[in-house]
Amino acid sequence: MDQITEYGAILEWYLAAGVDEAIGDVAVDRFESSRRLAEQAAAKNAQVPVAPTSSPAFAAPVAAPGPGARDQEKEREVNSALVENARSIAAACDDIATLEAAIRAFEGCPLKAGATNTVIADGVAGADLMLIGEAPGADEDRLGRPFVGRAGQLLDRMLAAIGRDRARDAYIANIIFWRPPANRKPDPVETATCLPFVERLIELSKPKVLVLLGGTPATSLLGTNQGITRLRGHWQDWNGIPVMPTLHPAYLLRQPLAKRDSWRDLLAVRRRLSGTD
Ligand code: URA
Repeated sequence: MDQITEYGAILEWYLAAGVDEAIGDVAVDRFESSRRLAEQAAAKNAQVPVAPTSSPAFAAPVAAPGPGARDQEKEREVNSALVENARSIAAACDDIATLEAAIRAFEGCPLKAGATNTVIADGVAGADLMLIGEAPGADEDRLGRPFVGRAGQLLDRMLAAIGRDRARDAYIANIIFWRPPANRKPDPVETATCLPFVERLIELSKPKVLVLLGGTPATSLLGTNQGITRLRGHWQDWNGIPVMPTLHPAYLLRQPLAKRDSWRDLLAVRRRLSGTD
């Protein structure tokens, strides 16, 4: 392989792995900056403020911890302070517009630093059907709306197959509001800091049925370690709301045969929504 072909192969490999954006000219040592952030957060930990009850202008003022923190006990404390802070901010929001403003102002999730947009939800808040996916990808990050890339187009066709349309009667969100670098899976600290906001979004939108797309939202919201292939197709409960875990549309793009299972799940959702099951 000559050198140019070899570089081409490396670029193709990066693209296949989801590394499709050059963010800066100079490499950043994320381990070092995470370590620094964790140390700063630990120092401020004693003074993590609780959100005011009436104003949405309340960015969480603590920095996020990173994987290289030396003192693991302190890191755990910082993490739970971040989650508690997120929870009190979310609880203070009484409507979706206020909650969205609070999420945009929130600085407690390290993913925000690498994202172009905060991606919260699309469709009709208050619709009887709500769907929750994993995290924004490159298209969603660029446009600031969930599920607008290839997986989103498939999701729209799946919804149409059960007579639904996000512009009319479906509400779509993700379990994470910022794109993880190179589309990696969100880690447990990232999902834990976003979860209070996602839970509040569900509480305020009050769907009749909740559909979880893929293993990440299922693990996070249902608190289970069961894989999505076992979980899918079986009704679950989240605070009194029936929940159908099903396969993620991105998985269906890779495994078209699995669409059969997904179709069964959608039919069950349609029956539940129309009160015929
Ligand atoms: N995959 C997701 O889980 N969410 C999106 O918004 C896009 C792709």
